[in-house]
Parts: sequence; C-alpha cells; structure tokens
Amino acid sequence: MAMDPHAQVPTQLISHFSSGWIELWDSDQTHFWDRGKPSPALIDWLESQPEVLPLHPNRKLTALVPGCGKGYDVVMLALHGIDVYGLELSRKGVEISEAYAKAELARPSSYNFAIENETGPLTSVIGNAKFLEGDFFKTNWEKRVAIDGFQGFDLIYDYTFLCALLPEMRMDWGRRMSELLSPDGVLVCLEFPLHKDLKLPGPPWGVKGVYWNILSQGGDGIIDEETASEEGQLQGKFKRMTYFKPARMYENGKGTDMFSVWKLRR
Ligand SMILES: C[S@@+](CC[C@H](N)C(=O)[O-])C[C@H]1O[C@@H](n2cnc3c(N)ncnc32)[C@H](O)[C@@H]1O
Repeated sequence: MAMDPHAQVPTQLISHFSSGWIELWDSDQTHFWDRGKPSPALIDWLESQPEVLPLHPNRKLTALVPGCGKGYDVVMLALHGIDVYGLELSRKGVEISEAYAKAELARPSSYNFAIENETGPLTSVIGNAKFLEGDFFKTNWEKRVAIDGFQGFDLIYDYTFLCALLPEMRMDWGRRMSELLSPDGVLVCLEFPLHKDLKLPGPPWGVKGVYWNILSQGGDGIIDEETASEEGQLQGKFKRMTYFKPARMYENGKGTDMFSVWKLRR
C-alpha cells in the first residue's frame, strides 16, 4: 500500500477497479451494500434544522450524493426541499435510481422522515432528484449540473463511498470534495465501517480515523491503528463542525457509525 502522499494511483488499477462496480450492478449484486432505505441518521440531523447548513432564502439548497447507489438518500433529500444530484458510475444504477425516484417522489414512504414526522414532509417544497452517470474523479459530468451561477454544492453526503474506494484514492477523494463544495457548504459524512480493522482488505475498507486524517490533518488517509491520532497539525482543507454518534442508524453500523459535518477552512 502506497504510504507516499505524492504517489500516483496507477490509472489501470483505477479503471479496473471502477469496472468492478459496474459489473456488480450489471450482475444484480447490489445486495452487498444496499440498505433498502435512506439513512435514518441523515434524516434526523436534517430535520433538526442544523444551523451549520448554509442559508439561501432566495433559492433551494443543492446537494450531491456521490456513489449514490439506488438513490434512497437523493430522494429523501429532495423530499426535504433540496435540489439533489446523485452520481453513479453505473448506467444501470442510474436507471434503477430514476425509476425509484419517480415512484417515491409521487408517493413518499414514511421512512423518508424522522419518526415524529412520519406523516409527511416538513416542507411543501419538493426539490428535484436528478441522476448522472459519471465518475466522481473526473470533471466531465459537472457540465450537466444545471444550477444557475453554480459555485459548488451546498451539501455533499458521503455514506459508504469513501470506504468503497481503494485507499490510494483517498487523497483525491478529499481534493474532489474540496473542489465540489461551495465556500459555505457542508460535507456530511456517515462514517462506516468504524468497527473494521484498518489492515483488513475491502471494500468496504475500515475508515476509523480516516476522514479526520484526510480532511482535517491533510493526510493521504492511509493510516493504521498505531499511528492514527487526532493530535498533530491541522493542515487539511476542512474543519470539523459536528461529530456525534447518531441515535438512529442502519443495523450493520453495529452501533459504531459516527456522523461528521465539515466545512472548508476560510
Ligand atoms: C458501496 S456502494 C454504496 C452505494 C450507496 N451509497 C448506498 O449506500 O447504497 C458504492 C457505490 O459507489 C459507486 N461508485 C464507485 N466508484 C465511483 C466513482 N468513482 N464515481 C461514482 N460512483 C462510484 C458504485 O457503483 C456503488 O454504487
């Protein structure tokens, strides 16, 4: 595993790795990661109306969910009044997400809302849910983001995306996040898996301490249990604004998932 932060990820390795995801979609093997519903932790946080969310009274907020899977979180965010883009490597994934969004936006399931609001949305304004086939690490899909005066997304949500990437791709993940987020936007991460040994192979790769290392410390995210530490210089582009264990989370988080919210340092 490359420990040199300047090491380049071999292009061949990445393209082979990417085609692996597409093959999993094409052979209907999404059960490895599919949770069947949006993230309860994200819903609860959103409905708590966090002050850290940017305020734009004259327009809807915009969001990106990279590696959005079947689009559950994309649709849930749209049901909360946000214009959302789901990005997927897989064409089939995009088609499945589009069909899901069409049905779900017309008749939303109660699982899209916090327990106390299960009867329906807090807002009467519904956002758009749009799905793009594209590679997060490339920029060519960005021209299909149809937002007037686009200066980056107000919210980007990462769940089981970082842990799905080769460790060598982590530094690029952090760089792309900083490019795609608006100056007052929030990067929201549901950190999983935190119970998995960092030495074990993935996907999913264990990410305990990895978000902090990349975003706050400016490291390459390739750490081990012995060296991982929140001490040391903070040379990363992001500042962690919130960090907590959510009350509701998916079963497979084994009670260890953590919720972190990041802003770009000014
Ligand atoms: C582990 S799955 C998680 C999906 C989704 N977040 C969920 O919770 O159901 C990772 C997803 O990221 C997609 N993916 C992997 N690399 C990607 C890339 N470079 N750009 C866009 N999507 C990617 C895969 O196709 C796969 O659907």
